[in-house]
Amino acid sequence: MTDTAREYVARPANDGPTHCTAAQYEELYRRSVDDPDGFWLEQAKRLDWETAPAKGGNWSYDPVEINWFEDGVLNLCHNAVDRHLAERGDATALIFEPDDPDSPSRTLTFTQLHAEVVQMANALKALGVKKGDRVTLYMPMVVEGTLAMLACARIGAIHSVVFGGFSPEALAGRITDCDSRFVITADSGLRGGKTIPLKANVDAALALEGVQVEGVLVVRHTGAEVDFVEGRDHWYHDLRSDEDCPCEPMKAEDPLFILYTSGSTGKPKGVLHTTGGYGVWTAATFHYGFDYRPGEVHWCTADIGWVTGHSYIVYGPLINGATSLIFEGVPNYPDHGRFWDVVDKHKVDIFYTAPTAIRALMREGDHHVTSRDRSSIRLLGSVGEPINPEAWRWYYEVVGEGRCPVIDTWWQTETGGIMLTTLPGAHDMKPGSAGKPFFGVQPQLVDNEGGVLEGEAEGNLCITHSWPGQARTVYGDHERFVQTYFSTYAGKYFTGDGCKRDDRGYYRITGRVDDVINVSGHRMGTAEVESALVLHPRVSEAAVVGYPHDIKGQGIYCYVTLMEGDDGGDELEAELRQWVRKEIGPIATPDHLHFTPALPKTRSGKIMRRILRKIAENDFGSLGDTSTLADPGVVDSLIEGRQNR
Ligand code: PRX
Repeated sequence: MTDTAREYVARPANDGPTHCTAAQYEELYRRSVDDPDGFWLEQAKRLDWETAPAKGGNWSYDPVEINWFEDGVLNLCHNAVDRHLAERGDATALIFEPDDPDSPSRTLTFTQLHAEVVQMANALKALGVKKGDRVTLYMPMVVEGTLAMLACARIGAIHSVVFGGFSPEALAGRITDCDSRFVITADSGLRGGKTIPLKANVDAALALEGVQVEGVLVVRHTGAEVDFVEGRDHWYHDLRSDEDCPCEPMKAEDPLFILYTSGSTGKPKGVLHTTGGYGVWTAATFHYGFDYRPGEVHWCTADIGWVTGHSYIVYGPLINGATSLIFEGVPNYPDHGRFWDVVDKHKVDIFYTAPTAIRALMREGDHHVTSRDRSSIRLLGSVGEPINPEAWRWYYEVVGEGRCPVIDTWWQTETGGIMLTTLPGAHDMKPGSAGKPFFGVQPQLVDNEGGVLEGEAEGNLCITHSWPGQARTVYGDHERFVQTYFSTYAGKYFTGDGCKRDDRGYYRITGRVDDVINVSGHRMGTAEVESALVLHPRVSEAAVVGYPHDIKGQGIYCYVTLMEGDDGGDELEAELRQWVRKEIGPIATPDHLHFTPALPKTRSGKIMRRILRKIAENDFGSLGDTSTLADPGVVDSLIEGRQNR
């Protein structure tokens, strides 16, 4: 794809007043950069505060210490729920659409949501949860997941949501890392007609050495039979109660949640977000990014186990008083038209999904889309990975019939919310490009030596000025936070992404430049998969890289050396696949396992991943300089192995 102006797509005529015209964007953006504190204190008025903040940002990237609105006091559950009661108590807050289309859907008004959140908060208290405690959520995509997050916020507990697709081992690691003494789960979950044994997985995690909690709260969902440990496990329906449960006043910089995410080294990091800044960021980005209008139904198809679910299923929409749809199922069950059935059934206005899902549905043919009405959709959004222009066009033309703007929103777990996007009322779109910086976001492209690149350029994406939604630390390991994000380019936040800027100031993410891969929008450290592989007794060494995959964006390619004299074989291949699934979860299942007698290493023993990436990509012509390898012959044997696959 070349970057020429021809490729811009003029935004479709908007069907109503927008929050932000092109001129307003320019003016607001300028203000947000010239006077960040004034701008954000103004935006902070989107929230209800018990004590309104007088301070904007108080931050430094050297040493790294980030505060926003630090003298403010508020509660985000109050902002997402209670404050709406007077004005829109009868408006729909949540719609639940179950996995099975024949099971009943459910709606909750803000008044009902309030009653349910209070009950959940009382159940947490009965379990022994107190302000500041970490609470691990391991939930299916049901209303109670959102209730549990909001209930934690209500009583000042810190939620740590672990995606329900992670294995007991991965769950255990995330429980112990933040010293969480409470787990909320369900008997089991449903996805695409399949049952996920959530409570049994929790039991398996808690049976591992060194993992101990005080209480497990279990929501009855499918009615599956589960084991209970006396004194530790409690049914939610036994502990819930209607007593009054006021919102705990929280300082703006009190922690709101921890969310584990993968990096290029080590185990996943517990990224920590705080209350005030995150609340303002999700409120403002939801309002402007989706050009949200009162009464609209917003559907973000993510899982609450990821940051997208946190910010754009729970906090962003509810703080804005929007109706947010919670979907338990998957795009291809019972058939490939399910998304559009749900859109029609609930008259969805805003639809926000990942490129992986778009590509998978595109492959199945237009008829699954065109046979459904979809006329309720006003705006389409994409998130989680680069969207290829072909998929973008299909999304825009077939799904949106050329009448709905598409926003391609770039952001990260660490950024709290949207950072780069075109605004639907303000900007032309450009397929494959996320677009412009959101208010207060000051992107900078740097070369590998840290030299700042101006104008049209390609480089490493950094952000120079702090923004309210920025993560504050890695839970329990501030030094790791500093090392990971602020040491590569001194004085800047480094995103880990490569990026191109065109002559109109549009940003296009080219992908990760570190050892993180993005598989179906799921972020994964290659080091994690490697660690899982080498735990197997027959594996000596492993090197994992990403390679282009038509549907998933990137696939997982594993080079494995076995113990002396072991030739591997199909059975071991299947066993290792299972092994990784068990260690991490199905999302980490290797696509390719390549047994090799040796890995390409420099004389000092460093694995040359660049070469491994090229070979996995079937790109043998540009391997670059291999003369520094300890044994250059390894490369030929790897190429031969690749060609024979
Ligand atoms: O590489 C970028 C990619 O996803 C990474 C962040 O992953 P995670 O923290 O799991 O958050 C995903 C949801 C916000 C980024 O470093 N990424 C995310 N959105 C886009 C993207 N790449 C290209 N275009 C996007 N719109």
